[in-house]
Amino acid sequence: MTLTPVGLQACGLRLDVTGAAATVTLNRPERRNAMTPALWRGLASIGAGLPPDVRVVVVRGAGPSFCAGIDLRLLSPDGVPGEDPPPGPDDPGFESSVASWQEGYLWLRDPGIVSVAAVQGHAIGAGFQLALACDLRILADDATLCMKEPALGLVPDLTGTKPLVDIVGLPRAIELCLTARTVSAAEASQLRLAELVVPAADLDGAVADLTAALLATDAAAARATKRLLAQAGEHTLEQQAAAERAAQAALLRARLGGPGSP
Ligand code: ACO
Repeated sequence: MTLTPVGLQACGLRLDVTGAAATVTLNRPERRNAMTPALWRGLASIGAGLPPDVRVVVVRGAGPSFCAGIDLRLLSPDGVPGEDPPPGPDDPGFESSVASWQEGYLWLRDPGIVSVAAVQGHAIGAGFQLALACDLRILADDATLCMKEPALGLVPDLTGTKPLVDIVGLPRAIELCLTARTVSAAEASQLRLAELVVPAADLDGAVADLTAALLATDAAAARATKRLLAQAGEHTLEQQAAAERAAQAALLRARLGGPGSP
């Protein structure tokens, strides 16, 4: 289901599309963009309804923090007004509910787009996982990252564990998650959790520059290349070489508009 702007606003999101660039804004700054199931479903609806010519998706947070993670009221008996309480572990729908929340994150790795997290202030728990769900991360120098879930008696379950291990390696991922410690922007850069760290005042400009650079490459080549790169880790060298040949042939065929072109 695709939400209207009003529907997105109601769950704390805003979507701005300008040509081939889209910006998704977590827009509940008074709660430091704390997240609820409705917001995760809203993110999924943005992914499902994204115009096909969008190539770059920037994910940002309004206000001083990128995202303070799950709305902690969900973990209390009172819950969040207007939101159904999350299912309990004995509820047969528990895993399908979490799967529907994860849909809000997974589309950000689609080969058709490049996703960029623009992170200022805190990125905690579900918010850190949202930054990890993106292909690239630009951090303001005041950004801090924290995988808080284990400290709250939870596992990170919003798709963050795989990209974290892929980026920082298993030992560092264990250390970061099981201590739930906070990583500064400077350390995030050393750990390759940030492609770029900029002064906070320069964050928007740096994101705009990166977006322009990404959009300057040929769209079909960019999409085919991202697809190739994304599968390289699971391939042998021979498999990847074969995939490169096939991708090149498909790309060039498509450009000629020949038989078998998509
Ligand atoms: N859930 C609900 N409300 C929140 C959350 C949250 N995760 N984070 C902040 N808020 C609210 C605060 O209660 C406060 O509301 P109030 O103005 O009605 O009192 C408002 O947002 C502003 O928060 P402050 O704490 O005053 O802002 P500050 O900038 O000083 O601190 C920080 C920001 C560090 C993010 C702090 O709010 C915080 O530690 N939040 C909780 C983080 C957390 O543990 N998240 C869960 C992670 S685990 C997971 O995501 C599964």
